[in-house]
Amino acid sequence: MTAKKQLQGEVFYPSAEVVEKARLKDWEATAQWAAEDLEGFWASEAEELEWYKKWDQVLDDSKAPFYKWFVGAQTNIVHNAIDRHLKTWRRNKLALIWEGEPGDSRAISYHGLNREVNQFANILKAMGVGKGDRVTIYMGRIPEIMFAMLACAKLGAIHSVVYGGFSVDALQGRIDDSESKVVITADGGWMRGKIVELKQIVDEAVKHSPSVQTVIVVKRTGQEVYMETGRDYWYHDLAQLPIANGDCETEKLDAEDPLFILYTSGTTGTPKAILHTHGGYMVGTSTTLKYVFDLQDDDRWWCAADPGWITGHSYIVYAPLVLGATSFMYEGAPNYPYPDRWWKLIAKYGLSVFYTAPTAIRGLMRFGESWPNRHDLSSLRLLGSVGEPINPEAWKWYHRVIGGERCPIMDTWWQTETGNFMITPTPVVPLKPGSGTRPFFGQEAEILDDDGNLVADGEEGYMVLKHPWPAMLRTIYKNPDRYVEQYWSKYPGYYTTGDSAKRDSDGYFWIIGRVDDVIKVSGYRLGTAEIESALVSHPAVAEAAAIGLPHDVKGQAIHAYCILRAGVGAAPALADELIQHVSDHIGKIARPEEITFVDKLPKTRSGKIMRRLLKARALGLDEGDTSTLED
Ligand code: WTA
Repeated sequence: MTAKKQLQGEVFYPSAEVVEKARLKDWEATAQWAAEDLEGFWASEAEELEWYKKWDQVLDDSKAPFYKWFVGAQTNIVHNAIDRHLKTWRRNKLALIWEGEPGDSRAISYHGLNREVNQFANILKAMGVGKGDRVTIYMGRIPEIMFAMLACAKLGAIHSVVYGGFSVDALQGRIDDSESKVVITADGGWMRGKIVELKQIVDEAVKHSPSVQTVIVVKRTGQEVYMETGRDYWYHDLAQLPIANGDCETEKLDAEDPLFILYTSGTTGTPKAILHTHGGYMVGTSTTLKYVFDLQDDDRWWCAADPGWITGHSYIVYAPLVLGATSFMYEGAPNYPYPDRWWKLIAKYGLSVFYTAPTAIRGLMRFGESWPNRHDLSSLRLLGSVGEPINPEAWKWYHRVIGGERCPIMDTWWQTETGNFMITPTPVVPLKPGSGTRPFFGQEAEILDDDGNLVADGEEGYMVLKHPWPAMLRTIYKNPDRYVEQYWSKYPGYYTTGDSAKRDSDGYFWIIGRVDDVIKVSGYRLGTAEIESALVSHPAVAEAAAIGLPHDVKGQAIHAYCILRAGVGAAPALADELIQHVSDHIGKIARPEEITFVDKLPKTRSGKIMRRLLKARALGLDEGDTSTLED
């Protein structure tokens, strides 16, 4: 933005240096163009990439909400992420710099990445994996997770990455629902000086799997693990075979062919598989990364998320590679062995753009400024935030202590379903701490009341999106009805985000949080239903209800209410046992903060637990409308 408009509240304007360096100086002009010609805007972005065959139509909305983008085009995201760079000087540019928690490291060029991905793809092919087959990937943050994802994409297989912090039940449910043929894992992963037993968890999860034929195991920790003959293979053994060479043709796909599914928690029941496709996702993720984090050839980008979540899929793996950028990835915990590990990494590798979650900022803030202050963070030029609302206090600390007051913070609001940033500034947009500013080019958001009326500026309501976008989810895998119901039926014609928000008089959006039964713990998305079903799988528990309550570091923490079975006593030791039980079944991230034993749960006459009421009571708030309460 060139002309400074007077904005309300506390505003941080970009410095002259930031504007000077930014590739896009006039936000308003591009926003206006995209608003007037949505398809023209996206087509011109798509033109910057390579296609085996160009599209006949940019957007097909004839079967909305089953939108199609770049109809008739042929492509493969791997062609743009790797193949096309090999023809240019980028062949020898670093694609990935990686450091393991114990301090080992690797640097991989685009040329090297191509060889690794081809080798992995040839191995998968030999295991019978082809177009449309599902492959589950369950690993830590090591380069091979990236190779495995790209190898699947190269063959047209659909990857389903399960976050390595999930445990047996969560993994098993996702493997079975996706009917994966192959599972790719590692012997273990390093986290806080300890080994995460990935292979052991896979063994448990596939014990009764009807679909899994092969488990490929990458050696990471070198510890002894069980290997089942005829099912389990070491990756390094397979890589010795003549078939595992460095050449492999990239499969020519339709732009709308599926790229991956990713399970995420929704309003009810078990997590649903969100489906993304090659063409639109490739255009949307790379365009947003290009404008928002403004990656340039001399940048080193660090998205500190996990590849197992959408943030990692879009902004560690795919978009940076499509842009030909250099990414950094770190295996372990931010505070291991000391709370300055992240800051040390920024200084050591000269990283310039850094993207993380508010929970991590708040967690590291607690250790004080002396930890970051002992490192030279002057290589940084832009910062980012994602996953939950960032409180102004954390924003300002991040801005001052990490960004040296010179780095704008890109607070990006988006979702697994949206595939890419939706509400976000670019470096030249004036910032207000805690607001993601305005919708990205080609998008508009509205705040509606329960009946679908627009609410006044400053008032809270349901946030919806007005226009389709290329990287949008196409459906819920195997469940198209659910896709329509969950996202498109509350307000016909609008995409329902599941978030509540406010818009201020400058048109800036302020996200408040989820309005459904999703809890955001440390930015991780969990469903109350998953936690409750883990609790009732314990023999002592008859009924359970889980809610999220505010937490200083995690944003929200899980609080559970349990009705015990007749004859079971409510001992504190039992509460601890239940907390451990949830952790063993879903993963550490789902550990309840507190368990309260109760005799009754508030329910509607139709038997639905009124979590809203539990929350209001726990917070000592007005209980609101209780007319549907059973008694
Ligand atoms: C929340 C993560 C406020 C929001 C990319 C959304 C945010 C959910 C922000 C999606 C942000 C994400 N400010 N809230 N910048 N980014 N959220 O699918 O509630 O894991 O609906 O995707 O995270 O979570 P998901």
